[in-house]
Amino acid sequence: MKLKTKNLLTLSEISSKEFSDLIKFSIKLKRDLKNNKNTPLLKNKTLTMIFQKPSTRTRVSFEIGMFQLGGYAINLSTNEMQLSRGETIEDTAKTLSRYTDCIMARVYDHELLVKLAEFSSVPVINGLSDSFHPCQILADFMTIKEKKKKLRGLKLAWIGDGNNVCNSMIYGCALSEMKMSIATPKGFEPNSQAVKESRKFTGIEITTDPIKVIKDADVVVTDTFTSIHNLDKKRTKKFLPKFQVNSKLMKHAKKDAIFLHCLPAKRGGEVTSSVIDGPQSVVWDEAENRLHTQKALLTFLIPT
Ligand code: CP
Ligand code: NVA
Repeated sequence: MKLKTKNLLTLSEISSKEFSDLIKFSIKLKRDLKNNKNTPLLKNKTLTMIFQKPSTRTRVSFEIGMFQLGGYAINLSTNEMQLSRGETIEDTAKTLSRYTDCIMARVYDHELLVKLAEFSSVPVINGLSDSFHPCQILADFMTIKEKKKKLRGLKLAWIGDGNNVCNSMIYGCALSEMKMSIATPKGFEPNSQAVKESRKFTGIEITTDPIKVIKDADVVVTDTFTSIHNLDKKRTKKFLPKFQVNSKLMKHAKKDAIFLHCLPAKRGGEVTSSVIDGPQSVVWDEAENRLHTQKALLTFLIPT
């Protein structure tokens, strides 16, 4: 199956059915890999990865994912590219499109991705921008599905910064009809357009009260208080101690609630070691699932 969209820059570009099919296919790919039944679905296809910002999970999972699919991935840091000497994103997109079957880019400014996608004739995937992180959310919802056996009707609590991951999580909740409750300090709320669009499909509550938000939650999620694109390194102070996910706060969630974090985590910041290393944490499955969901995404996007 192929997606209707050429690119995946935000989850607003796909339908609920496509989101659910991607997750189902990711679960199948994971099972096949564990049973040594890996199929080279993208034999001889290539992925070009562009990184303006650091990465561990995104880089490794995409590269190994392409390898497992029978294809090949190359990694470019923008300071090694002519982009760093003033070549335009338009010319870069047109050139890369003549060599590669797909481009994945991690950028500061989301608008750069929009331009890259506009001028590229091959699919472009958002590997994290200042506004969205769709690939992370595919892995997160696969993980929730594996652990809870369903998505619709669950309550997800987001505590901390209303950031790029939170914005994509909002679309994920809308696509799977999960209720989302968000607690952020004043001034750190998520993208208002994502909230507005998603409220048509599910309940999205935004408050400054972490205890209210986590009450009866099935899934608890947080992320760093200082994202790579945040210049104000003192912003963390505005979140602590109220918005830290610690054992005391987790007690207000359902007993069988799971804890997710996209990683990298700042232990003692947005989350304590007692939670991230505790029995409710599923962060390593979540990190692993980046591999399976991105393989599904690449298979659904790259023309074969
Ligand atoms: N979660 C995530 O995108 O991790 P990296 O920054 O390591 O790629
Ligand atoms: N919000 C974080 C996510 C990192 C994967 C950031 O943008 O740095």
